[in-house]
Amino acid sequence: MTTASTPRTSPATSSQTDPLQLIDVDHVRFYVGNAKQATYFYASCFGFQFEQMADLTTGSRDAAHALMTQGNIRLVLTTGLSAEHPSMKHIAHYGDGVKDVAFTVFDATAAYDRAIKNGAESAYEPVETKDEHGTVVSAGIKTYGEVIHSFVSRHGEYELANVKKGGRFMPLFEKVKSFALNDHNRKHPCGLKFVDHLVGNVGLGKMNHWVAWYENVLEFKLFKHFDDKDISTEYSALMSKVMASGNNLIKMPINEPAHGKRKSQVQEYLDYTEQVPGVQHLALRTDDELHSIAELRRRGVDFLTIPEAYYGQVWERVNTMLKAHGHDVVKEDHEKVKDLGILVDSDDEGYLLQLFTKPLQDRPTLFFEIICRRGSQSFGKGNFKALFESLEIEQERRGNL
Ligand SMILES: [Fe+2]
Repeated sequence: MTTASTPRTSPATSSQTDPLQLIDVDHVRFYVGNAKQATYFYASCFGFQFEQMADLTTGSRDAAHALMTQGNIRLVLTTGLSAEHPSMKHIAHYGDGVKDVAFTVFDATAAYDRAIKNGAESAYEPVETKDEHGTVVSAGIKTYGEVIHSFVSRHGEYELANVKKGGRFMPLFEKVKSFALNDHNRKHPCGLKFVDHLVGNVGLGKMNHWVAWYENVLEFKLFKHFDDKDISTEYSALMSKVMASGNNLIKMPINEPAHGKRKSQVQEYLDYTEQVPGVQHLALRTDDELHSIAELRRRGVDFLTIPEAYYGQVWERVNTMLKAHGHDVVKEDHEKVKDLGILVDSDDEGYLLQLFTKPLQDRPTLFFEIICRRGSQSFGKGNFKALFESLEIEQERRGNL
C-alpha cells in the first residue's frame, strides 16, 4: 500500500472555535550571521526560491529578513544590523540556528492568551503590523532553550492561501526582483513539499518535562502511531518522544541524551550551544525520495554516509515487515536506493525512505532530514543502529566522541 503526500493545511472548520487549532507551520525563522549570503546556500544547495526580502531598502531598519520558499515550506533568514539586535547575541552564543517555529492560527491573540493560561511564558505580547495590503498579528511564547513559538494570524492579502501563491508575506517584505538561482530552481526542482516534523534536543532528564509542556501548553498529544517506549539501544544513546498537535498536522519529537558506550549526538549538540536546548533537525517531506536525493546530491549537499553493510540486511528487514502486514514491498529501485545512500524503514502501516544531511553550519547543531512516507507514520526507528554508526564516524572526525 502506498499513499500520496497528505495535504498539509488544516481546513477551516468548526474547530476555528479552538484557539490552539494550528493551521500550518507558518514559517521557521533561522537566526543567521549573514542572511544575504545564506540565501545562496539554501537556494543553491536545497532549491529554495528566494522570494521576498525585508531590509533597509524596504524600511526594515534593525534587521534583514529573507523569505525562502519551496512547496509549503517557508524559511525566514534573519540577521540583525547591529550588535544590539537579539539575533546577533543569539548567534554569538549558539551559532546559526532555529529561533522561531511559528504556527498559523485563526486568531493569534486568542491562541497566545490560551497558551499563557495553560502555563506558557511570554516571549512577546501580540503585535499587529498593518499596511494597505492587510494585517498580520503575531504573538510569541517561549519553549525549550531560546526557541519560541509565534502564533500568526493573517488577514487581507496576507492570508496564508495568498502567501502560498506567492503573495505578500508580511508588511515591509518586498518581492525579490532578480535572483538568478530562482530560474534555475524552477527548472530543476528538488521536490521538497512541507515540514514533516521538527525535532528538539533538550538536556539530560528533561524530555518528560517538555513532553508535559507540549501537552499542557499547546494541548499536543503523544503521537499515537509512535510506540511510546523510550528508544535507547547501546548504539542510539538517546531517548525520544513525539508530540503532535490535535490534528496531527504538526509533529515535534523531543530528544534527550542517554548514557551509551559513546557520547550521545544530542550531548554533542548541547556542547556547542552552551548546554542550551534547541532545534536539532527539520524533516522536509518529498513525494519522490530518489529524485530529491539525486538532485540534492547533484547540487553538492553533504549527506551522512550510510555503511555499505546496511544494504546487506535492509531489504529483508523492511520487506518482511511489509508482507507480514499485507503491504506491497518497497517499490523504489533497490540499487538506486543503495547508490544514493538512502535509508529505508517499515512498520505495520507501510514504509518510509529518509536521509540526513550533515550539519548546515560549522557547529555540529542543526541539520535537515529528507523524508518520503509510503504509509509509515513513524520516524525510522529501525535505522537507528545504522545511523548511529554513521554519526559516530562523523563525531570521531570532529574529535567529539
Ligand atoms: Fe526526523
